[in-house]
Amino acid sequence: LGGAKLIVVANREPYIHNLRNGAVELMRPAGGLTTALDPVMRACGGTWVAHGSGSADRLSSDARGRVRVPPDDPSYTLRRVWLTPEQENGYYYGFANSSLWPLCHQVYHRPTFDPAHWAAYQEVNDLFAAAVLEEARGGPALVFVQDYHFALLPRLLKRARPDLVVAQFWHIPWPNPETFRVCPWAGELLDGMLGNDLLGFHIQYHCNNFLESVDRTVESRICRERFSVTRGGRTTRVRPFPISVDPDLAAEHLAGDWEAPVAALRRKYNLGDRLLLLGVDRVDYTKGIPERLRAVARLLDLHPGLAGRFHLVQLGAPSRTSLPEYRALTDEIHALAADINERYGTPDWRPVVFVNEHAGPELIYPLYRAAAGCVVSSLHDGMNLVAKEFVTARDDEQGVLVLSEFTGAARELTDAVLVNPFDVDRLANGLLAALTMPPAERQRRMRRMRAQVADHNIYRWAGTMLSEASKLMDHGPRPA
Ligand code: G6P
Repeated sequence: LGGAKLIVVANREPYIHNLRNGAVELMRPAGGLTTALDPVMRACGGTWVAHGSGSADRLSSDARGRVRVPPDDPSYTLRRVWLTPEQENGYYYGFANSSLWPLCHQVYHRPTFDPAHWAAYQEVNDLFAAAVLEEARGGPALVFVQDYHFALLPRLLKRARPDLVVAQFWHIPWPNPETFRVCPWAGELLDGMLGNDLLGFHIQYHCNNFLESVDRTVESRICRERFSVTRGGRTTRVRPFPISVDPDLAAEHLAGDWEAPVAALRRKYNLGDRLLLLGVDRVDYTKGIPERLRAVARLLDLHPGLAGRFHLVQLGAPSRTSLPEYRALTDEIHALAADINERYGTPDWRPVVFVNEHAGPELIYPLYRAAAGCVVSSLHDGMNLVAKEFVTARDDEQGVLVLSEFTGAARELTDAVLVNPFDVDRLANGLLAALTMPPAERQRRMRRMRAQVADHNIYRWAGTMLSEASKLMDHGPRPA
């Protein structure tokens, strides 16, 4: 970065301090973004600006909201921004997660648009701009903005400090222009994002959708050969950068006695030594969890001989539970699991085990390693890093990945068993493949997928995006 400071901005903080029974406890949030970026920040250093969301965050930071992380090996600074409950409600639960999330995912879940949420979203983007500008004081900096929480931030930063290089990665899909244009503030969002020097999406299709949305909504000059947009004298380059994972994390979590946590889970839920199909998700309506459970029932209808031979273990981390849709989904999954277990189970065999808790990598990686198959049945997903994590955990070159074709990951992991999660028969057949595929074929597929992820890892993602952004830096003397 030629001596420039790296500042990452993401709503979610990589380390959350919570108060539990009078003691401060450290938590790592679930979700692809923090998992992907933490290793990058450990390697590059710099500052991560995020919403301070834990009950002991203030207690654990200095007067400016700063704390060095990770606590056991401090390698970068976490700068927390404090939000009032009203701001969090309007900006995070409101505009980000009730408007933009369903709007961009197109999962037939109608987005709602509330002017009060929009006001809070603007207010919080202003707050983050102030924090970033403070962190960037006194020298050149590259600001790397993450995700749909901060569509307005790039423009705000550029207005105050035209010399900053601003890049943004949009971790969720970008919909087609007809879908996007229903947002009452479509023009403002696009204008904010066109403050970026570089704008990244997971796949080319999302880049195309973005350019089409710009074309139909705001005044600008689009160059389709170079995939760039010029508006108000400033040019934004739009490119695909498929995000990935750190393959070494798997090795780290599988180094010791990894079979112990699996055995403990088997005992706790009475799983015996049956085959495991594994789902690992935040409980979110984009992830296709009810579809996955229904496919288990369908599988047992089609192949009654499989009864008693396997379990679907669904780890579902509670997520955004202040929103009624998320609570309703949690209830739906509990009810569906109970219903399937009642219809198909026996006194000592439950086909579906729903673990509605936050699980850490020390349990997830051993489960990936032990499972017969991992099932990712998202209805729509920008990338999906669970699919890639699973692959990195299979140093035995076994295990079958059942993967929705509506994930970004399906474009790279073409050796997965690709399924349409809306098609219950195909999904049930995918589960069957995971339980019955011959070892040689499992190995052939897994070997190729492992090579793909090892090569296209998170460092390559960050390296490519940051080096492309840093090429846009003016390394000459700055005006006084
Ligand atoms: C997705 C989003 C991330 C988000 C993560 C977890 O991966 O792209 O921005 O951090 O979900 O969701 P949460 O709302 O808990 O941060």
